[in-house]
Amino acid sequence: MADAVLLLPGDGIGPDVIAAARRVLDTVRPGIEYSTCDVGLTAVEATGRPYPADLLDRARAADAVLFGAVGGDQDLDTAWDLRPEAALFALRQGLDLFANLRPIRSIPALADRSAVRDDLAVGVDILIVRELVGGAYFGEKGMREDGVAFDTFEYSRETVARVVRVAFELARSRRSSVTSVDKANILRTSQLWRKVAGSVAEEFPGSSLQHLLVDNAALQLLLRPRSFDVVVTENLFGDILSDSTAAIVGGLGMLPSASLGATGPGLFEPVHGSAPDIAGRGIANPFAAILSAGMLLRHGLGDHESAARVERAVDDAIESGVRTPDLGGTASTDEATDAVVRALASN
Ligand code: NAD
Ligand code: IPM
Ligand code: MN
Repeated sequence: MADAVLLLPGDGIGPDVIAAARRVLDTVRPGIEYSTCDVGLTAVEATGRPYPADLLDRARAADAVLFGAVGGDQDLDTAWDLRPEAALFALRQGLDLFANLRPIRSIPALADRSAVRDDLAVGVDILIVRELVGGAYFGEKGMREDGVAFDTFEYSRETVARVVRVAFELARSRRSSVTSVDKANILRTSQLWRKVAGSVAEEFPGSSLQHLLVDNAALQLLLRPRSFDVVVTENLFGDILSDSTAAIVGGLGMLPSASLGATGPGLFEPVHGSAPDIAGRGIANPFAAILSAGMLLRHGLGDHESAARVERAVDDAIESGVRTPDLGGTASTDEATDAVVRALASN
């Protein structure tokens, strides 16, 4: 049976970068069957809701989901389930996508775009494993009449253990070094996190574990990025650390991600959002979405060879000098995608 991929382009630059990723998939792996549906503001405008009622069924019927981005100008008074981000949350929670893999790999030809010195920026290869369905994002939240708002931060032994285990398993085929990031000097959830991470580490005698407090981790990732291998952390810390660490490798336009559960389809999406400030201009950097399609090939369809070809083609395109404006160049989204497709013809 043909592989089935559900495309969810979403809002802002989402449709542009998903079209780019689709072109690359068509080149490396023809024959995938695609279906598509509106999510985010685009869906709100068309139907009054940020996603269709059968979204989860459609996702479960696919082998993988490729997601663009959702969101726009923030209207903070919109009810939660009508906000564009609700589509993303429905998928993450409904498919129980607890492990969000965010690789941060430097491309030598982009060293001049790094926010850190060239000699620190080269050879960086970090994998952030972000817990994705717990913490403050999903705990009880509310706004009380007396003007107090709250978000409950909650983790259980099991929700920590399963994501830390994924981090150690992935570390085994890398440099076997795991850094667990928490705020164990203050937060009860982090004290639990640190203990559980320590006991999971005992299942992996060939690997090392170090603990860092999140504020220090933010600093160390910039000071000595090459010394990190796998970094595992809770939902909100992982969100923030991945955006800031992106600055080492040329910014958000370069960061792909894979969100995986224990079973069922994974969701693959660039780390960036809908970028309302540049939407509609045809200048979005498509590399994060193209590399997300690469992660879809590897983790979603088990096609390691095509995934590696996609990664090499992005490296080659950049090496040939093609850069979108966020990377200091003048290439359009289409021109950057053309360069990847061209590179695929010869790799
Ligand atoms: P953003 O990631 O959309 O943009 C941050 C900055 O990075 C902007 O200056 C933008 O122009 C730039 N940028 C991002 N992606 C780029 C790309 N591919 N090429 C070139 N430049 C790029 O974050 P934001 O502005 O804080 O959020 C905008 C909206 O996106 C919000 O509604 C937010 O909720 C949503 N968002 C969605 C997702 C998602 O769908 N997964 C992720 C992050 C943010
Ligand atoms: C991300 C985004 C989302 C998050 C938003 C849009 C809810 O920033 O995927 O990194 O915070 O998880
Ligand atoms: Mn984010």
